[in-house]
Amino acid sequence: IKENLKEGLLTNKKVVVTAGPTREFIDPVRFISNPSSGKMGVAMARAAQKLGGEVSLIHGPIQVPIPKGLSSTEITSAHDLFEEVKKQADAEVIIMAAAVADFTPADTSDQKVKKDQADTSLSLQKTHDILSWLGKNKQNGQILIGFAMETENLIEQAKKKRARKKIDWILANSIASKESGFATDKNTIIALSEEYQQTFSGDKEIIAEQILNMIFGDKA
Ligand code: CTP
Ligand code: CA
Repeated sequence: IKENLKEGLLTNKKVVVTAGPTREFIDPVRFISNPSSGKMGVAMARAAQKLGGEVSLIHGPIQVPIPKGLSSTEITSAHDLFEEVKKQADAEVIIMAAAVADFTPADTSDQKVKKDQADTSLSLQKTHDILSWLGKNKQNGQILIGFAMETENLIEQAKKKRARKKIDWILANSIASKESGFATDKNTIIALSEEYQQTFSGDKEIIAEQILNMIFGDKA
């Protein structure tokens, strides 16, 4: 791994980075979400900016500040995220770090559901797989990077995910230890392309830079 950032690797390139969780509202006061803090996505956005990229951050409700000088768009649901990504799908690089909800309520209530009237079952429907859509509609020369969060068979599952989604790189996120994964400062990521594999471990900010250096430097 080259330690120093190769500034200029992404100069004049539009880079879209998605980060954070989505919220799928059941009624005005309740939603389904996940513990994503947005840290890894924001770290990827900063790293892309340092490499000279024109970065656009599309994010859900995140727990970290948005770096100065970064153009950003806030979204709530997986549906909103899909609509915004489609608008910006001409970017040369798209990094999907968002923890997109896989399911959303089949019906949303305009009014708060009262406990005495509530049916205790919740009907869900699948959201669109945004990365698969990007993979299917991939533009010439575009680089698509996704994440894979797994609790078992990390590498095997991540490889399958990369192929299924027709994307260039998948960054397999190990949540095996308390030191990595959701809402932590450190992470262990195995970057996988069709023919290459490399492990990165450490501070999210630092490994984000190392990963982009590797992808756009050595392995471009
Ligand atoms: N992703 C997406 N659209 C979705 C769900 C996920 O674009 N509706 C993206 C995520 O941003 C991530 C990648 O797909 O970059 C993998 O997400 P992950 O949750 O690990 O995989 P899924 O394909 O959703 O499969 P599963 O959750 O069943 O493992
Ligand atoms: Ca998922």
